Amino acid sequence: MQNVAVIVGSLRRDSINRKFAESIGKLASDRLNFSFVQIGDLPLYNDDLWQSPPDAVLRMKNEVEAADAVLFVTPEYNRTYSPAIKNAIDWGTRPWGKNSWAGKPAAIIGASPGAIGAAVAQNELKGLVTVCGMALLGQPEVYFTYKPELFDGANEVADDNTKAFLNTFIDGFAAWIAKTK
Ligand code: FNR
Repeated sequence: MQNVAVIVGSLRRDSINRKFAESIGKLASDRLNFSFVQIGDLPLYNDDLWQSPPDAVLRMKNEVEAADAVLFVTPEYNRTYSPAIKNAIDWGTRPWGKNSWAGKPAAIIGASPGAIGAAVAQNELKGLVTVCGMALLGQPEVYFTYKPELFDGANEVADDNTKAFLNTFIDGFAAWIAKTK
């Protein structure tokens, strides 16, 4: 089974993106093993901190490097991805020559209560992820309008169409990881 490091770009407790990622993790559990990478305790990027690297930074880099792939789950903030994701990605690219993201198979998904499902944020994030050397899945895309009624009390996907749609994504990502790893 492929291990996927999941990076959720929202830090808030009731994040729909976190709930969405957890639902997908349950649905994918026969194909992919999700581990959630904590990014909320990373300091804002500061090159000086490498003199005595923060534990949170080293932990995140180790977890990403140990994984077979990375899944970014981004909210949309003012038509772009969250600063928490940018901060985590910047830490991961350093120190120079020790880019934790390089060559990793990756996918981007995102949810919003709005109609276009974090599409603009995801599109912006694609450029960043690609320039950091990740092998980004192009299709299928997941622009998800989050509606609580699509999930049950255990946060499992309850709606058949949504389940089928997300299963297509999971299968595509699993195949992509097997092909590019
Ligand atoms: C938002 N939201 C938002 N939604 C959207 O579809 N497009 C946008 O550009 C924005 N902009 C935006 C800016 C800021 C600062 C906030 C806090 C929110 C709404 C956003 O999609 C909604 O709050 C989600 O619930 C955020 O995701 P999490 O935190 O629930 O995962």
